[in-house]
This record gives sequence, C-alpha cells and structure tokens, in this order.
Amino acid sequence: MATGLVRRGISRLQKSPAATLFLSRAHASEPQAQQSEPTTRSSQNLKNFQIYRWNPDNPGKPELRNYEINLKECGPMVLDALIKIKNEIDPSLTFRRSCREGICGSCAMNIDGCNGLACLTKIPSEETTMITPLPHMFVIKDLVVDMTNFYNQYKSIEPWLKRKSPAPAGWEGKEIPQSKKDREKLDGMYECILCACCSTSCPSYWWNPESYLGPAALLHANRWIMDSRDEYTQERLDAVNDEFKLYRCHTILNCARACPKGLNPGKQIQNIKSLQT
Ligand code: SF4
Ligand code: SF4
Ligand code: FES
Repeated sequence: MATGLVRRGISRLQKSPAATLFLSRAHASEPQAQQSEPTTRSSQNLKNFQIYRWNPDNPGKPELRNYEINLKECGPMVLDALIKIKNEIDPSLTFRRSCREGICGSCAMNIDGCNGLACLTKIPSEETTMITPLPHMFVIKDLVVDMTNFYNQYKSIEPWLKRKSPAPAGWEGKEIPQSKKDREKLDGMYECILCACCSTSCPSYWWNPESYLGPAALLHANRWIMDSRDEYTQERLDAVNDEFKLYRCHTILNCARACPKGLNPGKQIQNIKSLQT
C-alpha cells in the first residue's frame, strides 16, 4: 500500500494553479450564473471550502479543490458541510466518519490549521475554510490517512489489564474491584478516543513517528501504569524508559491544545517521567 501513498505538501499546494478549481454551480451556464447572482447570493449564505484531494487511482499531484455551499441549507458543523458536499456536489470526496458526536474519533482532520474532529467543530465564520488530512501522516485518499503506525504504537503499550496474582477470593471471573479514589486516578486518560489529533500535532512525533511513541500512546501507557488493579507497573515503566519512545517529548504541549476531548497528554507523559528511577 505504501507505494500509493504521498506525503502532503500544503504550502506548495496553496501556490499551485490547481488549487483554484471550482466545482459549484456547475450546471449553470456562465451568463445565466452571472445574471442570477445578485438575487441568489442575497438570499443565500455562501461559504467556500478548500479541501485537500488526492486519489491513489489517479496519482498525480495532490490539490486543494474549492466547493461552495449555502450554509442556510447545511447543519452547523464541519462534518455537516463535508456530508453535504459529498451528497450534492462531489460523491468522490472521501473522509472517515461514524458517530458524528465526538465518540469514535474517526473524523479527525486539520481544519484551518488546527487538528480537530469535524463533527465537533463549528463551521468557521470566515469566507473560506481549508480542510486537509491530519499532518505528517501518509494519505490513503483525500482526508483519509493511514493509521497503521499509530495503532501499532497503541498496541505496543499493551493496553489491557495485566495481573500476576489470582483474582481475590469470590471475584474469580468477575470485575476486579477498585476504590472510587483509585478510579479517579484514571480521569483525564480513560476519555481518550484515539483520534490522533494530539500525536499528529506534536513536532517531536512529526520528526520521529516510528521511534517516538507520541502523546496518545504514552497517555494510554500512563493510564495502565496508574491503574491500581494492574500488577505490571514496573514492567510498563521499563518498557517505555527509552530515549526515543518516551524522552522525545520536550513538553511543547501542542498535544493538549489539539485534544478535542480536553485531555492533556503532556501532563501524563510528565507523570511517566517522574516515576522513572
Ligand atoms: S508535550 Fe510532548 S507529546 Fe505533547 S506536543 Fe509536546 S513534545 Fe509532543
Ligand atoms: S489524547 Fe485527545 S487528541 Fe489524543 S488521541 Fe486521545 S482524544 Fe485524541
Ligand atoms: S464522527 Fe465520530 S468523532 Fe466525529
């Protein structure tokens, strides 16, 4: 699959003539469109979306393509606009989405330079909004990026409960109990939806995407380190105690700014560092 993937070059794209392709109102002839424009525009709330397009089946240079929609006929969120464009203007536009309420994490993308979830981001009031894939990721098609490396890093921290001792008497095959106080130690971590907005906004992750685990995977590493029921705390600390896996984090905190769930992965990484002896 890697042969079909390209890295994005947005700054170069913005200067490209291909970035000025307009598809809206394609059915009106030029004179008709111009004549009807004053009345049409006054009764509409038109907004332009500049969207990154790249198709592996036709692998030329990627481009930014413009789509104009009437906001009066569209829901308030960026995902509403993308769905409207796909349904009514260009069915070839490709993006991920599922829950449309900030739960699944699949609609993560870069909106006007900031990573976020399209379903939780209100359509900005500016005349034009640019939408591109998550930065520094391989693009599969349009706004869909390859999450394989991200998920493998998550898997590498072994995100499941690990025990050495048998379950307490009477609790065999059941949930292992935890006090409310211990449960609260997981706040700020269990809410993560693995959208990758944080990791793909982290400069350290951009430069070392394979060797640095990144804020999302490290947040989850800390989630299990802090779980009172887990009995592999030291092994988990040892597993990430590495110049690249952990110590590429330089506490820039882009991750906290990017997280659509209001989490602070940088703080969790600091906790892992503080527990290292
Ligand atoms: S705090 Fe660490 S993980 Fe977060 S953006 Fe900065 S370097 Fe990346
Ligand atoms: S910490 Fe926030 S930004 Fe990062 S993957 Fe989890 S939910 Fe997404
Ligand atoms: S569609 Fe699920 S988080 Fe946006």
